[in-house]
Amino acid sequence: MAKRTLSGLHQLSTARRQKTVAQFSRLTAAEQRLLRSSLLRTPGLGKATAESMIENVVGIFSLPLGVATNFRVNGKEHLVPMVVEEPSVVAAASNAAKMARPGGGFTATASGPIMIGQIHLEKVKDPLGAAEDIFRRRMDVLRAARLPDSSLERRGAGPVDLEVRVIRGHRETFLVVHLLVDVGDAMGANAVNSRCELAAPYLERLTGGKARLRILSNLADRRLAHAKAVFDKDLLGGKKVVEHILTAYRIAEADPYRCATHNKGVMNGIDALALATGNDWRALEAGAHVYASKTGRYESLTRYSKNARGDLVGEIELPLALGSVGGSTRANPMAALCLKIAGVGSSKELAMLAASVGLAQNVAALRALVSEGIQAGHMRLHRRLKR
Ligand code: MEV
Repeated sequence: MAKRTLSGLHQLSTARRQKTVAQFSRLTAAEQRLLRSSLLRTPGLGKATAESMIENVVGIFSLPLGVATNFRVNGKEHLVPMVVEEPSVVAAASNAAKMARPGGGFTATASGPIMIGQIHLEKVKDPLGAAEDIFRRRMDVLRAARLPDSSLERRGAGPVDLEVRVIRGHRETFLVVHLLVDVGDAMGANAVNSRCELAAPYLERLTGGKARLRILSNLADRRLAHAKAVFDKDLLGGKKVVEHILTAYRIAEADPYRCATHNKGVMNGIDALALATGNDWRALEAGAHVYASKTGRYESLTRYSKNARGDLVGEIELPLALGSVGGSTRANPMAALCLKIAGVGSSKELAMLAASVGLAQNVAALRALVSEGIQAGHMRLHRRLKR
């Protein structure tokens, strides 16, 4: 017989909720103790903080926090806090970063922290005419979207510009307004969503349409980060390894099945840093993969070539909506600690570090794949663990 569903969990105390779940899922006494102690013995994130973050909390789930070394970005030394369950990721990032050191490390840039908020209007009678009206009343739309008392606006940030698009769906035409919001050092989801909601009634009045969706876009292509490094040919394993890495890159460019794995490797490092610093790694994933398809084909987030000396020159560019303040970066004390370990003073600096980590992670994976194979590193760790 199918089990009944559990309802009203959110109304129970944490202890009762744990008991209810234990009963429902037939947890043994030892499993129940584990669940209870996960909430009691996690000094980094206590019960109260966990409950301020999500609903129906029954425990705290731990993951290892490691630190990748050797990252020199724009002349500054960084340690990279990484929260990840996969062996070799931390070691691989550290190794590749070491290979970039003879060439001076990573050179990185990041654009301003501009996020896109979208308002999708339906049932607009004359979408092109309405688009012109919105553009003419641009300053009024931006004024309607502002929260004058918020710290963003007080610092001259907040909604700074807009764009209007007319898109034809399968059944209807939508008028899409993009609010470009300077979110400062935050990831910005809340800031953007609330400003979209503020602007929507004004846009409805102006266009006669109905604002159906009011939410940020995770394709944060106004918030790009770029990193470049030269990886020493000899440290990589010689001329042949460089050639084979270039072939591996061309394979990713030619084959979307391979490219998904190639880009997954890039995101291994970026997500681990995002998780450590309390950032929304799902948002990064969504943005990265759509950005990888920006030409209409799914492509590599990294680019490679060879310099005159035969070293590998690597570059990466992707949207990185990372915050260094606000959200769980502040709520979770471990995230605040990790930001300090990373030594970043702004969201821009965090994005530049993350882009460098993504590039290093990809170089390390390609080097391992074209030489000893990916399993060797994993097995080394297994052997160490067995000892
Ligand atoms: C595994 O998590 C990541 C790799 O598969 C990346 C790649 O194949 O490039 C090793």
